[in-house]
Amino acid sequence: MSDNYKRAAAEAALELVRPGMRLGLGTGSTAAHFVELLGARVKAGLDVVGVPTSEATRGLAKHAGIALTTLEEEPELDLTVDGADEIDSELRLIKGGGAALLREKIVAFASKRMVVIADAGKKVEMLGAFPLPIEVIQFGLESTTRAVARVIAEAGCQGEIKLRMRPDGHALVTDSGHFILDAALGRIPGPEALANGLAAVPGVVEHGLFIGLASEAFVAGPSGVEHIARSSS
Ligand code: A5P
Repeated sequence: MSDNYKRAAAEAALELVRPGMRLGLGTGSTAAHFVELLGARVKAGLDVVGVPTSEATRGLAKHAGIALTTLEEEPELDLTVDGADEIDSELRLIKGGGAALLREKIVAFASKRMVVIADAGKKVEMLGAFPLPIEVIQFGLESTTRAVARVIAEAGCQGEIKLRMRPDGHALVTDSGHFILDAALGRIPGPEALANGLAAVPGVVEHGLFIGLASEAFVAGPSGVEHIARSSS
């Protein structure tokens, strides 16, 4: 059922795409619907180029026949469409469940407009039930983990911090060669303070709090597709 909602949200975002657009292509199962639907439009003659936010999405987009480019070729994008792990009422997000948060944030930041697509299960009153992904440099992992724990406590949060593992028992390494820490905080009362604290830790490359990046969202559920716009956008 939630897969139908993901597809409905992706269909709504597809309506924003115009010929000639430079698009950021998100990562995850909801973004995969968008890539597939976009591919069908491209096959019907739509002329766009895309920058994928992960190697997984690169593969899907290639398979769908979408012309790909890079941020070196196209440093500014018109529209990024991406999923999320959690969305609050101010369109603050937790992302990174698919380990692509670094490229996702770079691509979203390089875009004039970031639109989130999600099923209604992603909407929350307060961020934090989904463990917060934090991408860290491999060097100094233990020191960085301790520094992250201090920052989390200073931000009034608490919870276990775990190194993300692959099913084969090895640590997961991101597309950019880093590790991911997942912080199971339960609730994040002040996402901005936590985001600022994490950004100040030297071994932290990026964190999964996306604040002020998404300007709107299409959230699909039993009562249809809801369009949410950020009030300050
Ligand atoms: C990828 O790193 C994440 O940010 C995804 O956008 C997020 O996990 C959403 O994935 P689903 O669409 O599969 O729920």
